[in-house]
Amino acid sequence: MAKTTKLELTHRPRRLRRQPSRRALVEETVLRADDLIAPLFVVDGKGRPEPITSMPGVSRFNITDLVRECRELSKLGIPAVALFPKLDAKLKDADGTEALNPKTLVLRAVRAVKAAVPELTVITDVALDPYTSHGHDGVLTPAGDDVDNDRTVAILCEMAVLQAEAGVDFVAPSDMMDGRVGAIRKALDAAGHTDTGILAYSAKYNSAYYGPFREAVGSAKAAGTRLLSKATYQMNPANRREAVREVQLDVAEGADIVMVKPAGLYLDIIREVRNSTRTPVAAYQISGEYAQIHAAAKLGWLDLARCRDESLLAIKRAGADMILTYFAKDVARALKG
Ligand code: PBG
Repeated sequence: MAKTTKLELTHRPRRLRRQPSRRALVEETVLRADDLIAPLFVVDGKGRPEPITSMPGVSRFNITDLVRECRELSKLGIPAVALFPKLDAKLKDADGTEALNPKTLVLRAVRAVKAAVPELTVITDVALDPYTSHGHDGVLTPAGDDVDNDRTVAILCEMAVLQAEAGVDFVAPSDMMDGRVGAIRKALDAAGHTDTGILAYSAKYNSAYYGPFREAVGSAKAAGTRLLSKATYQMNPANRREAVREVQLDVAEGADIVMVKPAGLYLDIIREVRNSTRTPVAAYQISGEYAQIHAAAKLGWLDLARCRDESLLAIKRAGADMILTYFAKDVARALKG
C-alpha cells in the first residue's frame, strides 16, 4: 500500500464544500420564483386546453382557463406572464391586419387577466408573426422578397398602443426591426402611456430552436409557401459583438429591459450584455431548450427536475435578472416544496 503524506496546501477549496450548511453560506446564485416569467399561449373559443406535442406540459388555453392559470401562477409567486395568441388561419393575411383589430384575441386576454389578477405583470409580444399568412414578423415589400422595416415599425407602434390601452405592463417587441423601440416609446408617450414599459428582444438570434413555439402559434409556414428564413432580421448565431450593439441601440431608444434569446446556448451573450449595460437583462429559455430537456428525460437519459433547475441557474449565473421559461410553474411549485 502506498504511503500517503499530507500535502502542504495553503488552499483547500474543498473546505467550503464539506457540508450543506457551509455550501449554503458560499452559494453565489439563487433561483427564485420572483425571477421567472411564464410564457402562455391563448386561443379563442371555449375548448379544452390544447396540448402542444413538442412541449410536454404546455397547452394553449381559452381565455377563461388562461385567467385561472394566471391566478395560480401568481399564487405560486410568479410575478409575470408573457402572452402569445394562436390565431385561426382564417384571420391571417399578408399584412397581419388582425393585429390592429381592437377586439383581437390577445387584447381580450389581457383585459381579462388584468381584471382578475391585477397584481400580475402582463407582457405582450409586439410582432406580426401570429397574424401574417407567411409567418414573418413584419409585412413584406411589394416584391415580396424582404420584410419592409419601416412599414412594419409603423404597424408595431399601433399594436403597442392598443396593447397599452388594454392594460399591459410591458410591450415586448420581438420582431428585430431597426428603430422600433424608439418609435414605440414615442407612440406610447404620445398616447399618454408613459407608464407602459418596453421589454426589448434586443439580441434575438435566428435560432433553429424556435421550432416548437412555431407549432404552438402556428407560424411555422403557410401552406404551400417555401420555408421561412428570418435571417434578414434576427441575428446570426455566429455574432457576439453585434449583440452588444443591438443592446446599446435599444437602451438609447428607451428600452426599460433588454433581452437575450435564446438563453442556454447564448450564455456568453448574456454575460457580455450584462457587463455592457446597467439596464436589467432578461433571457428567454425558448421552446426548443425546453423540448430538449423533456425529450431526454422521457428517454430516461436525463433527470428532468435537476436539468431544469441547472439550466435556469446557469442562465441566472450568466447574468440574467429574469428568465422567461416554460418551466416557470414547475419551478415555482418545487421551490414552495
Ligand atoms: C416571434 C417569436 C418567436 C418566439 C417568441 N416570439 C419565434 C420566432 O421568431 O419565430 C420564440 C419563443 C420560443 O421558441 O419559445 N415574434
